[in-house]
Amino acid sequence: MISRRTLLAGSAALAAQSATRFGAAFAEARFATKLPIPELIDAGARNHAISLTAQVGKHEFWPGRPATALGYSANYLGPTLRLRRGEEIQFDIGNKIGEPTTVHWHGMIIPGAVDGGPHNAIAPGGRWRPTLKVDQPAATVWYHAHPHGATAVQVYWGLAGLIMIDDGSDARLGLPSSYGVDDLPLVLQDRAFNEDGSLAYDRSPMAAMMGMIGDTIIVNGVVAPVARVPKGLVRLRMLNGSNARFLRLAFADGGAFFVIASDSGLLAAPVERRDLIVSPGERYEILVDFADGKSRVLESLPHDVGANSGMPGMMRMMRTSPDQPEQIARFEPDPALAANAREIPKALGGVAAPAPSSATVRRRLTLEPTMGGMGMMGMMGGGRRGSRMGISGKSFAMDRIDFEAKLGSVEIWEVQSQMMAHPFHVHGTAFRILSIDGAPPPAHLAGPKDMALIENKVELLVPFNALATKDNPYMFHCHILEHEDAGMMGQFAVT
Ligand code: C2O
Ligand code: CU
Ligand code: CU
Repeated sequence: MISRRTLLAGSAALAAQSATRFGAAFAEARFATKLPIPELIDAGARNHAISLTAQVGKHEFWPGRPATALGYSANYLGPTLRLRRGEEIQFDIGNKIGEPTTVHWHGMIIPGAVDGGPHNAIAPGGRWRPTLKVDQPAATVWYHAHPHGATAVQVYWGLAGLIMIDDGSDARLGLPSSYGVDDLPLVLQDRAFNEDGSLAYDRSPMAAMMGMIGDTIIVNGVVAPVARVPKGLVRLRMLNGSNARFLRLAFADGGAFFVIASDSGLLAAPVERRDLIVSPGERYEILVDFADGKSRVLESLPHDVGANSGMPGMMRMMRTSPDQPEQIARFEPDPALAANAREIPKALGGVAAPAPSSATVRRRLTLEPTMGGMGMMGMMGGGRRGSRMGISGKSFAMDRIDFEAKLGSVEIWEVQSQMMAHPFHVHGTAFRILSIDGAPPPAHLAGPKDMALIENKVELLVPFNALATKDNPYMFHCHILEHEDAGMMGQFAVT
């Protein structure tokens, strides 16, 4: 048993200096560790019954330096779940972390009663047994802790895992789908570490405002791993599981790759890209062609996310990106591995968006700090405890339902940000981005999503097809987890 206070003890001192030393820790372990592949749990092979336990363990982020961490039936992170459309899965979740937790199925379109948000708390030592009926198109979604006010810390210490929803399209399209061989899960996170290899968490006022930004990017829990891949097409399922860091992913050789899916499923057709901004909470599936036998290094490049919102001068001071590319992982083609897929499909047949004209309600939401007139400058200067974030002037309250939507309806949400970039997430839906600052989204952002990067103004088309009563509402929030915990979250019912 371990309390949050115990987890954090000893980390605060070092954390304060670590937040700005981007990449400092990298040199030593580059591409020496094999990419760990989380265990695969196929619901069909387990009689549709899956048990997971949120637990405390020891994990080696750095070889030879075991550190306290959290995981789901694992020392860090959790198994990858493969769920098929049409299945009904009985989960049995135990809580052995010594404080309340929840398990939220981020990206699953399921009723509020089993959504795993703050209202579905599991007491220490308790269990939660939700039944999930899987009824949505193929997608890479994820699960993570979402307890009231403590999401950031629990996710940071490791309570997260991937879910692959399969609806038969992999086979139909001939997409790479051998888990861990040509279909690789990549949980990308940034972390800060103490000298002994333990996790450091920055609780300074600056980190509360910017979110926890670490100096080291880890993949599936390790620093700068190497993966052997077949000499053919390889599918990377990439989750930015960071608390607050925006990544700009690219290959060091500048080579192209093909985006096939965004958060909630397949695009209409593959989109060729050379880089991708990925916000905390966001997922992309890409195809990378290794037929030429050359190894490739995945990097995060400098970017200016947030620099164009509200107050440019100020945001430049509060950088969220390093000056230099950061190496994330290396992929080495191995002719001994069977290449199952060689051709990029021409079309993917992603589900069509609802017509914007079907929307019956327009809502305006503004993501902003709510500090009784003190504003952002006050927060920077004073950084007093209790500084709050909010949406449209209100901080999150468990007992306030912000609005109700009609089951089966479609709405347009106009989401605006003041001063910072916020990755906005909505539970219980797969939406579309209609416009970004008045212009249609680029092709890779035009597919089904549950996350939208808000720098100025974005319009979303949001359908509601699952039930959430006022007792078990859905959340909408910023996925910078420190902002969420500080109140940049609201809740709505769908009835
Ligand atoms: Cu990924 Cu409400 O969360
Ligand atoms: Cu969610
Ligand atoms: Cu935010």
